[in-house]
Amino acid sequence: MAKSKNLYFCSECGAEHSKWIGRCTVCGSWNTVHEVSSPRNILSDIKVTSNSPQRISEIELINEDRIYLPDLELNRVLGGGIVKGSLILLGGEPGIGKSTLALQLALNFKENFRVLYVSGEESEKQIKFRAERLSSHNTDVYIYAETILENILRTAENMYPDIIIIDSIQTIYYSEMESAPGSVAQVRECTQKIMKFAKQKEIPIIIIGHVTKDGFLAGPKTLEHIVDTVISFEGDRHLNYRMLRCLKNRFGSTLELGIYEMTSRGLNGVPNPSDLFLNQSDEGLSGVAIGTSLEGNRVLLLECQALVTDAAFGNPQRAVTGLDPKRMNLILAVLEKKAKLKLGTKDVFLNVAGGLKVEDPAIDLPFAMAIASSYFEVPINRKIAFIGEIGLTGEIRSVIRLEQRINEIEKLGFDKTVLSKYAQKEDWLNNTSLELLFFDRLDEVISYFF
Ligand code: TYD
Ligand code: MG
Repeated sequence: MAKSKNLYFCSECGAEHSKWIGRCTVCGSWNTVHEVSSPRNILSDIKVTSNSPQRISEIELINEDRIYLPDLELNRVLGGGIVKGSLILLGGEPGIGKSTLALQLALNFKENFRVLYVSGEESEKQIKFRAERLSSHNTDVYIYAETILENILRTAENMYPDIIIIDSIQTIYYSEMESAPGSVAQVRECTQKIMKFAKQKEIPIIIIGHVTKDGFLAGPKTLEHIVDTVISFEGDRHLNYRMLRCLKNRFGSTLELGIYEMTSRGLNGVPNPSDLFLNQSDEGLSGVAIGTSLEGNRVLLLECQALVTDAAFGNPQRAVTGLDPKRMNLILAVLEKKAKLKLGTKDVFLNVAGGLKVEDPAIDLPFAMAIASSYFEVPINRKIAFIGEIGLTGEIRSVIRLEQRINEIEKLGFDKTVLSKYAQKEDWLNNTSLELLFFDRLDEVISYFF
């Protein structure tokens, strides 16, 4: 038997060292290198298998064995269900709804699908209390309040559930390691062990991880390298919609987006997300234009809002939510120079209704139109949508995935769409019942509408 050898780990960055040193040579922290006696647990007897290189043409493609989840949005984001033996990290800020999403998933599996829900954060009673709020079916959900990794894996091995959920990775610790739960070294070590377990037993495991304010999953992204799939649950806690994005996926694309609405009885998938972002306000308000934004693979219709007023004191104010301020400055400069709007003495406030953050350049034109609408105090008909990026010379540029955007606009019952002249040659345009208005430059659109 191999001689057991002591190991030294930095509790700050998790780096492994061959001997004790006062200062970690990897992250530079002092007094963070600690001795860990060689790990002996149920995982240490994993056999080393011999493997030889295989010719690529001779590798057989077998479809991964997937479990279809009782959650359409989650299935979509994962690329059609969860792969057996895969490790999924569900990240998000505290309070966003990760535990709710996971528990709801557990409860929605059909009867006889055994779920082990490990919680290091809440007691069994607290979880039961939460479950009461969600409409539940599956009675084969086992709640286990435990934080010691060895106990969790031993229980999982004995119980052999169909899926394991661990909430959260920051509370779990490997008792043979000295560093505190939640430290980078612990989180990394635990995740690696859980990953081995998932692969060895072919049980899919979802681990929940809190994301700090600066957007890091504990352990500067180290976890993201270890796991198979990273999904991130995002949204504004004060608003009721949440988005599920895939940041990494070894078994599918990362382009899919899931959208949920948080209700008093849990999270509901939103099949028609544009409804969520279009305010059902009355006709006749100036400063509003409808645009499209591509989020992952989905097109969302959103309401771009602008308020333009006379600056009360010398320096005009500019404030923007949901859009890059640099983008706003560019749009304002083009409106001033090319469409001759006198915005230099005006306060300008921009907002994307619904609290969404948009990066899609197709949002330039609707914002320019919202600004002009507020400037002239002339409302724009709400049955018209605008698509287009604005160039520095004032030209309206076409954007990607136009067909998909037009389809979405049509589906939501709009009459007209304004878009770049450069899109005119596309033949699929004949298929739409929307009236399409093609323009070359921003000033032409402005003079057409105002
Ligand atoms: P939670 O899932 O605990 O967030 P996380 O695990 O990401 O920290 O839930 C967050 C919020 O969701 C909490 O403030 C209560 C709210 N909530 C609802 O609005 N409806 C519900 O049905 C449930 C269970 C929770
Ligand atoms: Mg939680």
